[in-house]
Amino acid sequence: MLVVLMGPPGAGKGTQAEKLAAEFALPHISTGDIFRSAVKEGTGMGKKAKEYMDKGELVPDEIVIGIVKERLAKSDCSDGALLDGFPRTVEQAQALDEVLGDLKLNISAAVSVDVQEEELINRLTGRRVCRSCGATYHIKFNPPKVRNICDHCSGELYQRSDDTIDTVKERLAIYRNQTMPIIEYYEQKNLFHSVDGARAIDDVFVDIAAHLRSIRG
Ligand code: AP5
Ligand code: MG
Repeated sequence: MLVVLMGPPGAGKGTQAEKLAAEFALPHISTGDIFRSAVKEGTGMGKKAKEYMDKGELVPDEIVIGIVKERLAKSDCSDGALLDGFPRTVEQAQALDEVLGDLKLNISAAVSVDVQEEELINRLTGRRVCRSCGATYHIKFNPPKVRNICDHCSGELYQRSDDTIDTVKERLAIYRNQTMPIIEYYEQKNLFHSVDGARAIDDVFVDIAAHLRSIRG
């Protein structure tokens, strides 16, 4: 099963992907996480990506597409994957179709987690992420048991550099202008399904999991 998880910044893609990956035994591929690891390691690609990420802009298609192509060709993706934050442009969606054609895989569903902008701003500005394992928290909605310490690995929690109010507003505008057109792309292929993301994390999860079970048969 190959699932595209969509939705605006802060909708809960990463939060849901973590749970869905465990439930359906699928590799979780987040392009944002891949870029943040490259930034941390100081690679050339990481330095390039950081220039765009810090402004809230999209990393150019040719960089992103190459990375996803390489990742999907690995053996753990032979039965599918959970794509989080890719594709984000119609060009990326078309490139993904080509890559999957070569790998003899099909998209099973494009699931969008929908949340209003005001709530997205609250979620993003209160988000904290574990420096060691990448687990995601929220200071009010999903706090760790001990302040600033990861429940899973005791790593230190930090605030993403693109979670400032101005960058968040830019990311939301870019989502509206560049990413929303892929909704129509997947609607036309009868793959699009949206869920109300403005509910408790577990309720959103139950909805998405039910949809994935229904299409898996
Ligand atoms: P990326 O890391 O993908 O960021 P994003 O799409 O902006 O999405 P986020 O990760 O911010 O939000 P999320 O939906 O995962 O929410 P989360 O679960 O964390 O991309 C970052 C950058 O990388 C991009 O701006 C771009 O520069 C570049 N990039 C990445 N992919 C690219 C691509 N394909 N093409 C070009 N450039 C690319 O939840 C958010 C917060 O809310 C958390 O604190 C969480 O605890 C909380 N929360 C989650 N669910 C709920 C709930 N139901 N109720 C209450 N709180 C909740
Ligand atoms: Mg995320």
